[in-house]
Amino acid sequence: MKALRLTVITIVALLVLAAAFVYSGIFNVAADAPHSALTERLLNSLRERSIAVRADDLTAPPSLDDAKLIANGAAHYSEMCTGCHLAPGSQETEIRAGLYPKPPKLTEIGIRESPEKTFWVIKHGIKMTGMPAWGTTHDDEAVWSLVAFIKQLPAMSPATYAELTAGSEAEHSHEEDEHSHANTGAPDQDSEKEEAEHHHDHGNHDHAN
Ligand code: HEC
Repeated sequence: MKALRLTVITIVALLVLAAAFVYSGIFNVAADAPHSALTERLLNSLRERSIAVRADDLTAPPSLDDAKLIANGAAHYSEMCTGCHLAPGSQETEIRAGLYPKPPKLTEIGIRESPEKTFWVIKHGIKMTGMPAWGTTHDDEAVWSLVAFIKQLPAMSPATYAELTAGSEAEHSHEEDEHSHANTGAPDQDSEKEEAEHHHDHGNHDHAN
């Protein structure tokens, strides 16, 4: 009985402390204030285990070295990833400098552990890091094409990269819809505005006369 009471009191005290910690604002969420070494190690383990468990039942397609898949991945990569992860021969970018954690240079690490883990990270993203979940806008085949490309990336010369991405365009089924939307919306608004201005002019004329 006594042990139970002590346990309950301890748990309540810990909860109150946790609430006080949150409410006090002591924790600094700023991206330019690095984690302590302990927090960093904890977060790293949390991420590694989370990814490992979830990527466990994935299997990479046998065609990862397929030239067409790699080329399509290159097109996606040059459109969406280079600002944060760089490209062969490219310099540091301004967005990279301010991100915390800093995005790894995929040009150097390529596929860090396994194609399946890389696939999972690209598809689902990583919470509170700036790494987006590309699976919300891209199907699995597009994500595997990125994996296929990243596999080649560390050994790729700037010239080969330029060749692969010259004039290439990744397939984006949703993009056309957005464009046509913008095209039908904008002119209507413009012509309404023009009409309004026109009326205004007439009004002024009437007053002058
Ligand atoms: C806005 C910046 C940003 C963009 C754009 C971005 N990423 Fe990331 N990415 C990150 C950050 C930050 C991390 C590191 C997350 C961490 O440390 O937990 C990361 C991690 C990764 C990793 C894990 C690398 C490893 O092995 O540790 C892969 C793979 C990756 N990104 C691929 C991509 C691909 C492919 C694209 C484009 C489709 C992309 N990223 C676009 C910010 C970005």
